[in-house]
Amino acid sequence: MNILIVGSGGREHALAWKISQSETVERLICAPGNPGIARHAQCVPVKADDVKALVRLAEEQAIDLVVVGPEAPLAGGLVDRLTEKGIAAFGPTQAAAQLESSKAFTKAFCERHDIPTARHRTVDNMDDARAFLDTLEAPFVLKADGLAAGKGVIIAETRKEAEAEAEAMLSGKFGDASATLVIEEFLKGEEASVFALSDGKTAVVMKAAQDHKRIGEGDTGLNTGGMGAYSPTPAVDQAMLDRVMADIIDPTVKGMAEEGAPYQGVLYAGLMLTREGPKLIEYNARFGDPECQVLMMRMKSDLVPALKACADGALADLPALDWDARPAVCLVMAAPGYPEKAEKGSIIRGVDSADDIEGVEIFHAGTAENERGELMAAGGRVLNVTASGDTLRHAVERAYAAANRIDWPEAYYRKDIAWRALRPSN
Ligand code: AMP
Ligand code: GLY
Repeated sequence: MNILIVGSGGREHALAWKISQSETVERLICAPGNPGIARHAQCVPVKADDVKALVRLAEEQAIDLVVVGPEAPLAGGLVDRLTEKGIAAFGPTQAAAQLESSKAFTKAFCERHDIPTARHRTVDNMDDARAFLDTLEAPFVLKADGLAAGKGVIIAETRKEAEAEAEAMLSGKFGDASATLVIEEFLKGEEASVFALSDGKTAVVMKAAQDHKRIGEGDTGLNTGGMGAYSPTPAVDQAMLDRVMADIIDPTVKGMAEEGAPYQGVLYAGLMLTREGPKLIEYNARFGDPECQVLMMRMKSDLVPALKACADGALADLPALDWDARPAVCLVMAAPGYPEKAEKGSIIRGVDSADDIEGVEIFHAGTAENERGELMAAGGRVLNVTASGDTLRHAVERAYAAANRIDWPEAYYRKDIAWRALRPSN
């Protein structure tokens, strides 16, 4: 098979690494890719959100399966355009990708299909916002309806702050994305993410993973795309996975099919494990980054037949997925200044030596090569030090041993990856 991966981050490097191990692959191409991905795939300089150029590339290269990494091309209709051309794609159509691209859609969908989520109201004016805030207790959760690069969620501690934020958002704080707001109750509990594959009719659970959204140790400071991840997570045992499938994922797949927008691809459910059971915080229509990196480390089955089965509506016939029981962690090394203003250009050495440690894979995210062929930081999140181990602690130790071998004095990374799962109570 000829496969095209769309994207250029650590998630796509992990996918390329895993896919390149499949015997089904003849040619592997990545658009646009990065220097790490270039070790497994031919990188072509087509941007991940350039839908027209990606379709052209897939046609020219006789691609049999397009694997879409990030959300922008999904929301931009890449899968719809590929399907029109008869090219199989792993990822939802534009209509199905609304589960990520519109929070208002997802909330209304949850209501229609009885999927547990926070009590909420969708509003486009201050009168309605105030009226619903009146029914809630602090803290208040305010969300821009549309895609806001992961920044569109505000948790306001006081009523005054909530009103001020609602006003700012409705008057364009996140552009058009916040012309409509979802206001919701604050859910208490532990967060976890569950990943499942869907072919539009059937869902197959993958695994749970947990990421670290905040920049600082102890989960403090600004939100980021994710500073690390681990899987499994003690908060989600098999019984909880089954419950999430039964209460949340299965009804979603069934509901989307009933509504004429069957969901094909990976469903990434962000959950709050509350006292009343798991509740959906949000869906993403793609793999998490860096959660994908730990899932790929743990997956023993060939990934390609699973992705193809999603595209072909054939998941029911796929043999059960085989997973490594050993935990995996991912440590994100970021450029200085991330997430506010990442400084690019610092030189990175020692990646191969770190990669040599048993059980360690270094996935590239925002890297580039300069004219001397040296590796340098070219984005916010730069390297994903990913390790498996006999225990979670062992995996964490390997990840930090590998990070120590990377000669990049400017790097910032958290020193407490997986701390919640390593607490004595677990
Ligand atoms: P989201 O972009 O919807 O995943 O929200 C970002 C983060 O905000 C989540 O990971 C949660 O930590 C927090 N959050 C979102 N909605 C709620 C809620 N209803 N209750 C508590 N925390 C929330
Ligand atoms: N790690 C969070 C995300 O991929 O959205």
